[in-house]
Amino acid sequence: MAELPFVVRRAESRQSSEVIGSPPHRFRRFVSAEEIRANVHRLGRELSAKYDGQHPVLIGVLNGCFIFMADLIREMDIHFELAFVQLSSYKRAMASGQIDVLKETEISLTGRHVLIVEDIVDTGNSLKFLRNHLATKEPASLAMVSMFVKEGAARNGIVPEHEGIRIPDDFVVGYGLDFAGQWRQLPDLYVLIKE
Ligand code: IMP
Ligand code: MG
Repeated sequence: MAELPFVVRRAESRQSSEVIGSPPHRFRRFVSAEEIRANVHRLGRELSAKYDGQHPVLIGVLNGCFIFMADLIREMDIHFELAFVQLSSYKRAMASGQIDVLKETEISLTGRHVLIVEDIVDTGNSLKFLRNHLATKEPASLAMVSMFVKEGAARNGIVPEHEGIRIPDDFVVGYGLDFAGQWRQLPDLYVLIKE
C-alpha cells in the first residue's frame, strides 16, 4: 500500500506533500485546500442568493461529487433537498462512447428548480448527457455547478452556469477525484506529472 501524503490520525500533521505517488503516476500539488475553500465559499453565497425561496433540488453526480457537495451545502444558508445520480464509469464511457444512468433520483423533479453538482467538467460529455436526461423530467429550471472546469470543455462551449476553478486539460486527483479508485481523500488538488 502506498503511503498517504498525510497522517490521518494526527491532526497536527495533516500537512500534505508537494509530490505524491510513484512513477509513472506521480502527482504534483496544484490547487491548495485554501484556494478550494475560498471558491466553495463564493459558490455557496452565489447559489444561496440565486435559489433563495425556491427550495431547489441539488443533484450530486456520484462518486466524484461527494466531497465538494458536502462542503458546498455547508456554505449555503437556504433550504433545499438533496438527491444523487450515478452515470456509467468514465472509462467505460470513453471506450464505448456511450453514457448510461446507473442510479436515478428518488424524488420527482417535475416543476422543481434543479441544480446538478459535479466535481469536474472534462470533455463535457457527461454534463451534456445529464442535462438532456434531466430536461425530460420537466424541471422548472436546470443549472449546474462544477468545482473544476477544464479548459477543453470551455473551448467546446460546454460550461456550467456556476464554476469553481478553471484548470488545464491535465489529469487531476484529490478533493473527491480519483485515479483507479485512489486519492479521493486528499484536501488539495494534484495534477499528473508528465514523466
Ligand atoms: P466528462 O469528460 O466531462 O464527461 O467527465 C466525466 C467524469 O470523469 C467527471 O465527472 C469526473 O468524475 C471524471 N473525470 C474527468 N476528468 C477527470 C480527472 O482529471 N481526474 C479524475 N476524474 C476525472
Ligand atoms: Mg463526476
